[in-house]
Formats: sequence, structure tokens, C-alpha cells
Amino acid sequence: MQLKNDLFLRACRKEPVERTPVWIMRQAGRYLPEYRAVREKVDFLTLCKTPELAAEVTIQPVDIIDVDAAIIFSDILVIPEAMGMKLEMHEGKGPIFHNPIRNENDANALNEIDPFKDLYYVLDAVALTKKELNGRVPLIGFSGSPWTLLTYMVEGRGSKNFSHVKKLIYNNPRLAHKVLDKLADAIALYLSAKIEAGADAVQIFDTWGGILSQNDFEEFSLRYIEIIISNIKRKNEPVIVFPKGVHYKLKKLSKCGADVIGLDWTMNIGRVRKRIGERVALQGNLDPTVLYAGEEKIKEKAVGILNSFGEGSGHIFNLGHGILPDVDPEKAKALVRFVKEESKRFHHRDTEAQRD
Ligand code: CP3
Repeated sequence: MQLKNDLFLRACRKEPVERTPVWIMRQAGRYLPEYRAVREKVDFLTLCKTPELAAEVTIQPVDIIDVDAAIIFSDILVIPEAMGMKLEMHEGKGPIFHNPIRNENDANALNEIDPFKDLYYVLDAVALTKKELNGRVPLIGFSGSPWTLLTYMVEGRGSKNFSHVKKLIYNNPRLAHKVLDKLADAIALYLSAKIEAGADAVQIFDTWGGILSQNDFEEFSLRYIEIIISNIKRKNEPVIVFPKGVHYKLKKLSKCGADVIGLDWTMNIGRVRKRIGERVALQGNLDPTVLYAGEEKIKEKAVGILNSFGEGSGHIFNLGHGILPDVDPEKAKALVRFVKEESKRFHHRDTEAQRD
């Protein structure tokens, strides 16, 4: 089906746009009263596994916040769950695996997955959301990176020092690589299946890439992201990689096969563009806590990022990490409005080129 608004996809491919597209990481979530109303009826995993409800909350931010892309409602941890790990999502405490991966036996017990069988509910949600969106905006599919999934699978829960997963990579790197390999295979199949089901683009979240030293990042994270991207079956659906906290490998990251690199808020988007903007588009990177400020400040900070990126296509506006649950939705709406209004002047040449 023809998309009515394909600004997001054009910006990912650095094609001319009339204005900068904008969406928000974790845009379907608890800061929206409409999301909380659905969550009152069902627990988090039931929501992920009920395509009608997943489609409903996926579309909420498109209706309410007016973003230029939808991201399918799910979680990165459905993959370890499909591989046989028992996942609990605790109110306040976050995700918990009671039997984390700590040795060879634990690793051997992980199943290979067939996404069409083991994660059919996500694919059904993608297909249904695509139908209900009716071409309004593109739909993004996503996955965690192998490294970020490994941290949760080995720690068993969120962590401060990541002691268990660090012990694993230093004391038994062979085992770490074995699990990362399995994850890379599973993720490539999963993202290909999401594209087949209708996703217009996919994003790989490497939320914990930045806890690794430079060489370890290459060995335990980047290498597997590259394998995934080269194995994804796609036509021209863009791949976005979001490596949080990874300042030091931008050049290498720009060559990993991704079309877009997502930046966290600690980076200077203008400077990053000078280094790698020839090769890839950039996504980001407003500090999520700016949405605690008043509207004038939000506008000033958003314009600061647009200015820093400068003229022309290749920028998808976003936060530098997920929106926080205690943000007022009115602030998110205002941000989207500011980006749409203020970004037009950075695309005059593109628009003229299109007219010629
Ligand atoms: O972006 C979207 O709107 C799509 C939905 C989405 C969720 N999780 C829903 C969710 C996406 C893209 C994710 C990705 C995800 N999940 C990541 C990577 C992105 C990032 O923010 O770093 C990570 C690390 C996870 C793992 C995870 N899931 C954690 C640590 C938690 C608990 C912390 C928290 O934010 O509450 C979750 C739960 C979760 N995933 C919620 C939502 C809306 C909150 C659960 C609820 O509704 O009770």
C-alpha cells in the first residue's frame, strides 16, 4: 500500500524531504493515560501477546502525539523468552529471568527459534497494525542487539555494574560468543520475518553497548550487529542501529551496514554528521529530560539540534533515549509540533530541487 506520509523513510535514505520527520523512542508507553487504561485490563506480556491490543497501543502515539512513524509495541525480551527463558515483568522492578544463563548447560538449553512459530504473535501484531494504520505512517519493527539481550539473560535483571555478564566475557569468552552467535541468528530471522509481515524499517537497540570498552564493543557487540544486518532479508527497508553511549566507534559503526545511526543525547549531532554523515543518516538526539522543561525551553533545545544538524536530508528527529514515564504528554505533543514547524527552513533547497 502507498504510504501517505513517507518522510521518515525518505530521511532514512537521505532523499529530499519538506521537513524533518520525528518519532519518539518508547512512544507507546506509560506516560500516555490511554496506554495506562489498556494496561489496567491486562498485564504487560499479555498486552505484547494480544495483537489487537498491541496494535491499539502502537497507534495511540500516532493519533495523540502526531509522530511520523509508529513502532510496533512489544519488548526486546520476547526473544530470550521464545528461546525458553521464563520472563517476568515486575511493576517497578522491571524484567526478571529467574534462571539466568551462567554456564554451558544453561546456554545449551536455549532453543533455536522459528519466528513464524515461536513469535507469531508479534508478526500478527505487525500485520494487523499495518492494516489499521492504513498507510498513514510507516511502521518500525525492532529487536535488541545480541549484546544487550545477553546482558539481561546473564544478569537475570537490570544491573548497575553488569558483574555477571562481564565475568562471562572475561572468564569464558567462548561461551559468550556461542550465545551471541545463537542470538544473532535468531534476531536476523526475527527482523526478516517482521519485514515480511509488513514492517517498513527495523531498529536494533544496543542499549548497553556503552558499558563495554572500545575493543570489547567491537568483539562482543558490533561484530554481531554486522552479522545480523548482512543476514536480514529486505528490499529497501532501512536498518537503524541505536548504540547508546558508544562515542568511540562512530566511524566503524557507520560501516556496519546500517542506513541510520541513532545518537544518544550526549553527542553533538552536527559534529557526528561531519564525521559520518556522508555514509549514514542520523537519528536523535534530544535529552529525554528536556521534556520536563517548559515549552519555550523545549523549543529552544529542539531548534538547537536542528541547527546543529544543519541543512538537508538525513536527519530523523528523536530523543536520545526513551521517553520517561512521568512526562506530560502535552510536552511530547509540543515537541513534535515544534520540530514540524521549525525544520521546514532546513529543507528549502531539497524542496526546490524536487520542484525543478
Ligand atoms: O518504543 C515503543 O513504543 C515500543 C515499545 C518498546 C517497549 N520496550 C515497551 C515496554 C520498546 C521499543 C522496548 C525496548 C526495550 N525493552 C529496550 C531497549 C530500548 C531502551 O529503552 O533502552 C529495553 C532495554 C527493554 C527491556 C525492558 N522492558 C525494561 C528494562 C523494562 C522495564 C523498565 C521500564 O521502562 O519500565 C521493560 C518494560 C517495558 N517495555 C514497558 C514498556 C512500555 C513498561 C512496562 C509496563 O507497561 O508496565
